[in-house]
Amino acid sequence: MNDDALTLRVLRATLLNPLIREFELARPDGGVLPGFEAGAHVRVRVRLADGSSDWRHYSLVELSGDAAARQAPTRYVIAVRREAEGRGGSRHLHEQVAEGDLLEVQPPKNDFALRPGAGRAVLVAGGIGVTPIASMAAQAHAQGLAVAMTYAGRSRALMAYLAPLEALLGSALTVHADDERGGAPLDVDAVLGECAANDVVNVCGPQVLLDQVLARAQARGWPRERVRFELFSAPPAEAGDAAFEVVLKQSGATLNVPADKTLLDCLIEHGCDPLYDCKRGECGVCAVPVLEGEVDHRDYVLSADEKKSNKVIQVCVSRGRGRLVLDL
Ligand code: FES
Repeated sequence: MNDDALTLRVLRATLLNPLIREFELARPDGGVLPGFEAGAHVRVRVRLADGSSDWRHYSLVELSGDAAARQAPTRYVIAVRREAEGRGGSRHLHEQVAEGDLLEVQPPKNDFALRPGAGRAVLVAGGIGVTPIASMAAQAHAQGLAVAMTYAGRSRALMAYLAPLEALLGSALTVHADDERGGAPLDVDAVLGECAANDVVNVCGPQVLLDQVLARAQARGWPRERVRFELFSAPPAEAGDAAFEVVLKQSGATLNVPADKTLLDCLIEHGCDPLYDCKRGECGVCAVPVLEGEVDHRDYVLSADEKKSNKVIQVCVSRGRGRLVLDL
């Protein structure tokens, strides 16, 4: 996955608040980087706590709205939330990477582009999910599109890019800080209730926010394509996750997937070469045919009927309820 990776220098590393560190990255020769549109992300190679390395996905932040800054950029800006739990990728970027260091970065990819429709671009950000959403707000604003943004977080002090967004959007920005509402979370249904029939909702944030938006949109009878989304991080393991057994029909191999590992990781460790991309159950790339067994579906790709049929599994996030036989 890293054939065309770029080697970029950290020009600047700034703590935006106690949890979020912003990095400005550029070619060592100052040259032009591959262009991108709002919603794009890059993957950055990080070192994990166990000494191995892996790639982490960070949305590009571009708040100027300047088309040249996206089409022929000389720098990329990413913002990294420090995750106390997890395998150490964000801690590496917070604690061990300094200005002047070189990072391996894959060119931008965009699975979450702004698609202007007939109505407003309704933008909903939760926490660090603000990074693609803020870039969308800036791009949409610069293009003269109607925008309405809701930005939710625990407290204003922890909400990155709040001041520039307030300056950019004025009354088109609604801020929900939990600590100003007695700890109450964002009223997602109220946000959807203010949408006109032709508004499209773009949402990025933690899984709990995304699940609420999708559930409320479904309850309102909205077609699925009216909500466009990106999860900010891989879905966490769920309490009660258990090990399960997987038989690979073509090779005859049997794998045990422990409770704290994904099926995708086990397939890779076993020497299989499965296709995958997002690792968050969003893109659909990692689908594998299921021949036997019941799947605990956790993706956002398959329809309810496809899930019920048990004929396919998104191996990056979904698990088996007991033994599975896969056509691999
Ligand atoms: S890798 Fe994208 S859905 Fe699994």
